[in-house]
Amino acid sequence: MTSYDPAQDGAHTSFANDMSYGAYLHLDTILNAQFQLSDAHDEMLFIIQHQTSELWLKLVVHELNSARRAMETDQIEQTFKMLTRVGRIFEQLNNAWDVLRTMTPNEYTRFRKSLGKSSGFQSAQYREVEFILGNRNLNMLAVHSHDPTLKRRLIMELERPSLYSVACTLLENTGPQCATHKDAWLEVYRAPDRYWTLYQLAEKLVDLEDYLRRWRFNHVTTVTRIIGQKRGTGGTSGTAYLKKMLEVVLFPDLWDIRTDL
Ligand code: HEM
Repeated sequence: MTSYDPAQDGAHTSFANDMSYGAYLHLDTILNAQFQLSDAHDEMLFIIQHQTSELWLKLVVHELNSARRAMETDQIEQTFKMLTRVGRIFEQLNNAWDVLRTMTPNEYTRFRKSLGKSSGFQSAQYREVEFILGNRNLNMLAVHSHDPTLKRRLIMELERPSLYSVACTLLENTGPQCATHKDAWLEVYRAPDRYWTLYQLAEKLVDLEDYLRRWRFNHVTTVTRIIGQKRGTGGTSGTAYLKKMLEVVLFPDLWDIRTDL
């Protein structure tokens, strides 16, 4: 069998005057942004796992912002599509923990010192996702004081209505008139046929929170497996802090009503 020749098949092979795959994706920038600070073999895994997670988080922010805008302009079908995509991204991030789990405590210890005080705790994009969804703890802004641009970006997000409050505006405008949002969501769940759009929206939000909880759970399990009860490089109590974060509820009304259904 003769070996495949791309030129024979009509594949483009000269990119002197045309944009190539690598040029379009700026792969020279992305693939040259992995700087190990130790000679530990596993540091590359650690860097790439974080960088890819941040890339996916960038897409999550992009999708959530658009989903919120679509909801504000009554394009609810578009909102559904984007929220579904965000769920899938979290599924992807959840599966990614399986790769990191292959790193043992001693393999991590070999480069942990190189990380200094840096930690995912300082992930501005993760905080932005939380802020967009409605979990807005202003104390978390402090770690971004060294970067005014990032801090301003987070503050600008705080000035916008959260995705959940936009959902509640839609509930007020098109749903049952009740004294509280919780009562109104309850009515929506009791009469799904009448309030089908709101019903679907509520389930999409619960889905999203479900995926995010799984991410937090996988994170704390992986972290416990790797560092046990040690403090985090970010200075928190480590797994104790992460376990506390498992209790955060983004959309309490939507969970509370389940007891009454
Ligand atoms: C060896 C792997 C990892 C370890 C040992 C680890 C450890 C920790 C610890 C201990 C914390 C608490 C803050 C502190 O550092 O004191 C934390 C927070 C965090 N980590 Fe990780 N982590 C790991 C991997 C990852 C990865 C791959 C990501 C993906 C982006 C990530 C994202 C985060 C985020 C966003 C927080 C803040 C969570 C919150 O405030 O609720 N971590 N991590």
